[in-house]
Amino acid sequence: MGGEDQRWGTLAVAPIGVGTWSWGNRLLWNYVPQRDDPLLLHTFQACIKAGLTFFDTADSYGTGKLQGRSESLLGQGLSRLPPGQRQRVTVATKLAPYPWRLGRHGFCKAAAASRQRLGRPIDLVQLHWSTARYAPWQETPLLQGLVDQVRLGGAKAVGLSNLGPRRLRRVAGWMADAGVPLRSVQVQFSLLSQQPRQPGGVLEVCQELGIRLIAYSPLALGLLAGQYTVKHSPSGFRGLLFARLLPRLEPLLTLMGEMAADHGSTPAGVAVNWCRAHGTVPIPGLRHQRHVHVMEQALGWMLSAHERQTLDQASRNLATLMPQNPFQSA
Ligand SMILES: NC(=O)c1ccc[n+]([C@@H]2O[C@H](COP(=O)([O-])OP(=O)(O)OC[C@H]3O[C@@H](n4cnc5c(N)ncnc54)[C@H](OP(=O)(O)O)[C@@H]3O)[C@@H](O)[C@H]2O)c1
Repeated sequence: MGGEDQRWGTLAVAPIGVGTWSWGNRLLWNYVPQRDDPLLLHTFQACIKAGLTFFDTADSYGTGKLQGRSESLLGQGLSRLPPGQRQRVTVATKLAPYPWRLGRHGFCKAAAASRQRLGRPIDLVQLHWSTARYAPWQETPLLQGLVDQVRLGGAKAVGLSNLGPRRLRRVAGWMADAGVPLRSVQVQFSLLSQQPRQPGGVLEVCQELGIRLIAYSPLALGLLAGQYTVKHSPSGFRGLLFARLLPRLEPLLTLMGEMAADHGSTPAGVAVNWCRAHGTVPIPGLRHQRHVHVMEQALGWMLSAHERQTLDQASRNLATLMPQNPFQSA
């Protein structure tokens, strides 16, 4: 039920995507190439088998010299698929508006490098974050550059990321005038980051203008997955965050566990299906095959309206707990 691909213009998008930030990231996700690459390529195969054919990546994913590693790993995975299966995969990448990427041609080299790593044109090219807070004059030329990518066949569609409702409305209008409709906006959305669904928020603008909302960090970096406790937390930044937040999450996680049991799932399945119940496409970060199976199972069921409301209510006081991207615009 509800597991069919969605049509976004020419794109086919699975209702649960796959986030690949950890594929190449040492700093937050302790990536080690020799250890992790074979595992990640197996995970990629498992996703395809499970019908999880929508992948999110970025040209900045991969720490230091490993920048672009996530795209390269996806490219390797894609090259090993039979052509029929390869065509069914949709890859969304994000280009970073670094200060040296200037003007309408500022993304040309970056987009070409992404295509090279992926081994094919980009399906959905997204502006990784808004420059409104530090260089507002940069944004329109950069977006013109992304629109050019679609016109020249280097990408099929354009999306945004980390924009607030005001900017989103403005950019969507500008793109409609340019003749390339804005397909999606990617923002942090989870039970612990519900700002997008506030009145007048990004979700409302998306519904009004027919733009899809891609929900990033739908598991709140793993906090909502139900597998961690204060004593058994990941190391580094996530560990510090988990130690601070987990004690407040106990009642919510207990409720999610009970709901999950009714669906033969886990709290992670409930967390992504809560995002779906609000009309968004969640992209949980997946690197282990066992997590792929949870998401495959979650494709097969939806929360009832009553379950969704119960979770809305239970998370009311936790709805803005997660740190936000500092470049998120208004
Ligand atoms: N546009 C942006 O600025 C932006 C920002 C952040 C993220 N993103 C995108 O959104 C994606 C997802 O966000 P995220 O990676 O930040 O966090 P997330 O999806 O909220 O959480 C990922 C974490 O959840 C755990 N997990 C996944 N499935 C699980 C399962 N079934 N059971 C238990 N644990 C599970 C993983 O555990 P392990 O630690 O065990 O692997 C991982 O730690 C990213 O990969 C990226 O593509 C975009």
